[in-house]
Amino acid sequence: MRTENLSDRSQYFLDLEEKFGAHNYHPLPVVLKEGKGVYLTDVDGKRYFDFLSGYSAVNQGHCHPAIISALTKQAKKLTLTSRAFHNNMLGEYEEYITQYFGYDKVLPMNTGVEGGETAIKLARRWAYTKKGVPENQAKVIFAEGNFWGRTLAAISASTDPSSYKGFGPFMPGFEIVPYNDVVALEKAFQDSNVAAFMVEPIQGEAGVVIPDKGYLKKVRTLCSKYKVLFIADEVQTGLCRTGKMLACDHENVRPDILILGKALSGGTMPVAAILADDKIMLTIKPGEHGSTYGGNPLACAVAISALQALKDENMAENAEAMGIVLREELAKLRSPFVKTIRGKGLLNAIVIEHKNPDASWDLCLALKDNGLLAKPTHGDKIRFAPPLIINKEQILESVEIIGKALSQL
Ligand SMILES: Cc1ncc(COP(=O)(O)O)c(C=O)c1O
Repeated sequence: MRTENLSDRSQYFLDLEEKFGAHNYHPLPVVLKEGKGVYLTDVDGKRYFDFLSGYSAVNQGHCHPAIISALTKQAKKLTLTSRAFHNNMLGEYEEYITQYFGYDKVLPMNTGVEGGETAIKLARRWAYTKKGVPENQAKVIFAEGNFWGRTLAAISASTDPSSYKGFGPFMPGFEIVPYNDVVALEKAFQDSNVAAFMVEPIQGEAGVVIPDKGYLKKVRTLCSKYKVLFIADEVQTGLCRTGKMLACDHENVRPDILILGKALSGGTMPVAAILADDKIMLTIKPGEHGSTYGGNPLACAVAISALQALKDENMAENAEAMGIVLREELAKLRSPFVKTIRGKGLLNAIVIEHKNPDASWDLCLALKDNGLLAKPTHGDKIRFAPPLIINKEQILESVEIIGKALSQL
């Protein structure tokens, strides 16, 4: 099918995907071939600001020189041993990341959703061995509107029909409470079989939903009071995205299990991890969990460099400062179609109000034509999450593009 305003070259790549790829995504009609810092370039040579950052995997910017250097250097030496043997990168990475975040131990995985799966397995094991929950009775609580991936366990926790409908039967032992509702959470914790509460400090895919100030602190208090593990899914919010190293840092709370992914590799390869202290992590014994690629030497080298870049370049501080500028400048546009502007650091969203139900999609097409890439989430919301290395001049230029696109709606 011919897509409007698309070059023959771009159309060629779209046609290939349409013909040979599963139809499980609905991408914007743009075909990218290069990325550098905050910019992406398409196959026709047109340059765009990247306001999605690979769903926050590219916090450090596209092809960050230090990360690419670590990647290529290690790729020439050793890429995979599996965990059947030791390698000379894993231990150093484990020491680096546990000291970086202040936990006793790390368990390395690949994708974010594997991080979630791992956290839940660990919480169940902890519940049976430490909390005294009877075998097969453990419950894990999730918040309404959560998103943590596409595996059967992840969709079993989902409240979004487009995620779970038609894919049952679902994982037992999962329960849902409303997000940002500590009363409902405390009620759910009355059940002594509850092992854990797994929650995003800010709900990303739901459209950058920020809970009330104090929510995470109260979650922490309740988890401690009822001996329930607090699992923070910081796959999207972590690694400086919201203006602090972790979104939990905004309230100075320390989760029992921390899940990281995405920007842990700066957008170069799937690298995820969960962190916890010994009393929890050591309940999993040899042979009980793992992954062929988890903790591979290439991932270890990349992750150290990706984490180092965040600190070396003060990306949390920049995200905080640029986020304020972005939201202020967006507000100055005074667009009648922008109902809400919200966000923390450089994890932001606008909510579109327009008589045309496809207005958000049309706006993203107009943004693309004007040189900025963003994608709607849940219909009327558009996330604005550029790489954290963006500067003020680039923010101002981006907002000018957004203003122009809005005026074309
Ligand atoms: C909060 C959160 N957790 C987990 C995931 C899953 O990560 P992955 O797509 O790498 O499996 C995502 C992906 O968007 C996410 O936003």
